[in-house]
Amino acid sequence: MSMRTPSVQGASLPPSPWVRRFAALCRPGTALDLAAGGGRHTRLLLEAGHKVIAVDRDVAGLVPLTGPRLEILQADLEDGSPWPLGTRRVDLIVVTNYLHRPLFAPLIAALAPSGLLVYETFAAGNERFGKPSNPDFLLQPGELLDRVRPQLRVLAYEDLEVAEPRPAMVQRIAARATAA
Ligand SMILES: C[S@@+](CC[C@H](N)C(=O)[O-])C[C@H]1O[C@@H](n2cnc3c(N)ncnc32)[C@H](O)[C@@H]1O
Repeated sequence: MSMRTPSVQGASLPPSPWVRRFAALCRPGTALDLAAGGGRHTRLLLEAGHKVIAVDRDVAGLVPLTGPRLEILQADLEDGSPWPLGTRRVDLIVVTNYLHRPLFAPLIAALAPSGLLVYETFAAGNERFGKPSNPDFLLQPGELLDRVRPQLRVLAYEDLEVAEPRPAMVQRIAARATAA
C-alpha cells in the first residue's frame, strides 16, 4: 500500500515509529487523531482499517484525504468551545507534536473501555534544538506519565532526546483504559 508523506507545517514527516508500534496493538475500531495536521497518522490509521475522526483547527492538510471511514472535524481546541466529540468514545487516540494541558481530562474520558492512548510530544530541554521552545508547549520531566497514570494502565513511556526525525526532547506514552 502506498504511503504518501504529507507536509506538516512545512516539514515532511513520516508517521512516528512510536505511533506505528503502539497503534498496531489496537484492532480496527474508531480512532481519534487530535490536532491531526497534515494527516500523517490519519492516513496510517485509515490504512490499518480504523474509522478515523481527524480534528484540527486548520483542516486544509486533511482535505485531500477522503473516504467513508474518515470524519474531519474542524475545531479550535483551545478557545473554550465544548469538546468536539461530545460524549462519543473511541478505541484509539493519537496525539503527536501538540500539547494543550486542559485537554488531558476530555481525552482520557473519550477512551472506550480498554481504549488506547498513544501520545508523543516535545519536552523541556527542546529549547536547545529550536522550536517549540515556549514552556506552554513543552512537557515537564515525567509530566506525561503523571498526567495519565492515575486513570490509565501504562504500557510504555519514554522521556528522552531523539535524533530522528530531527534532534528533539520528547516524551511519549502508550496507555490503556481499564476494561468495562
Ligand atoms: C506541529 S502540528 C502536529 C500535527 C500532527 N499531529 C503531526 O504530528 O503530524 C500541530 C497541529 O496542531 C494544530 N493546532 C494548534 N492549535 C490548535 C487549536 N487551538 N485547535 C486545534 N488544532 C490546533 C495545528 O493546526 C497543527 O495542525
